[in-house]
Amino acid sequence: MRLLSGSARLAGVIGWPVSHSRSPRLHGTWLNRHDIDGAYLPLPVGPADLAQLVPALAKTGFAGLNVTIPHKISVMALCDRIDPGAARIGAVNTLVFTETGIEGFNTDGYGFIANLRAHGVNPAAGPALILGAGGAARAVAAALQDEGTPVTFCNRTERNAIALAAALPPGNVLPWEYRSAALGDYALLVNTTSLGMVHHEPLDISLEAATAALAVADIVYAPLETELLKTARALGLAAVEGLGMLLHQAVPGFKAWFGVTPEVDDELYRIVSGG
Ligand code: ATR
Repeated sequence: MRLLSGSARLAGVIGWPVSHSRSPRLHGTWLNRHDIDGAYLPLPVGPADLAQLVPALAKTGFAGLNVTIPHKISVMALCDRIDPGAARIGAVNTLVFTETGIEGFNTDGYGFIANLRAHGVNPAAGPALILGAGGAARAVAAALQDEGTPVTFCNRTERNAIALAAALPPGNVLPWEYRSAALGDYALLVNTTSLGMVHHEPLDISLEAATAALAVADIVYAPLETELLKTARALGLAAVEGLGMLLHQAVPGFKAWFGVTPEVDDELYRIVSGG
């Protein structure tokens, strides 16, 4: 690792807690590879300190920040400008500090679409069925709609799916119990729930009704390959794992802060999944 100069560029991730974050490893790898005079730090910031610390970090010369749980919504009030895409998602995960203020972006949707494309999956191939109705579902759905893809929400608590469909018109709603039987109508299935993650229940779904054209994406990245994706692969369907979304969503922030477009490759997968 190179030593920093007095004019090194700084960025980091704010969250509470932040010790589990893979972002320092990810951005640190890119900084090393490109021999950039800069650093990316894990910054534990509690909810009570957010409003004071974000403007303070901007004043100290930080180029920007990633924002993670629990600040993705509350940080919006601290932004001078919010990108229209982030406003539609209702959450900010990337801050860029400029001379004219704090700019808020949401790169999750970009990361999801870039990851599909990196796996050879066309995001506009046909209608998408989205399992879940939380913040991740909202980012994924907005990004797919931007590609012209019709989205249907399917969630255990149906009123949450109905609310999300109303927030992102013209979203459709499918009752949770039809998630397996209706699959033949879709070109893309996306799991945005926590089901299948380590220490969580598995996702209970059958892919038998799918056509050969169905692509299956999971935003869960621990384990790297969920039972859902193993089942999809066994049936010969395209399977898109969640770690790629995490890697790709980091690209726009790195470019904005450090001026270089970084690459997402196999070595990066190994480095980030190993830590
Ligand atoms: P995020 O904002 O990260 O997407 P979230 O808001 O906690 O996370 O959303 C988690 C999603 O997983 C929700 O859609 C949730 O469904 P409910 O709206 O019914 O709570 C879904 N989820 C979590 N546990 C589940 C379970 N055991 N069965 C079905 N869905 C589940």
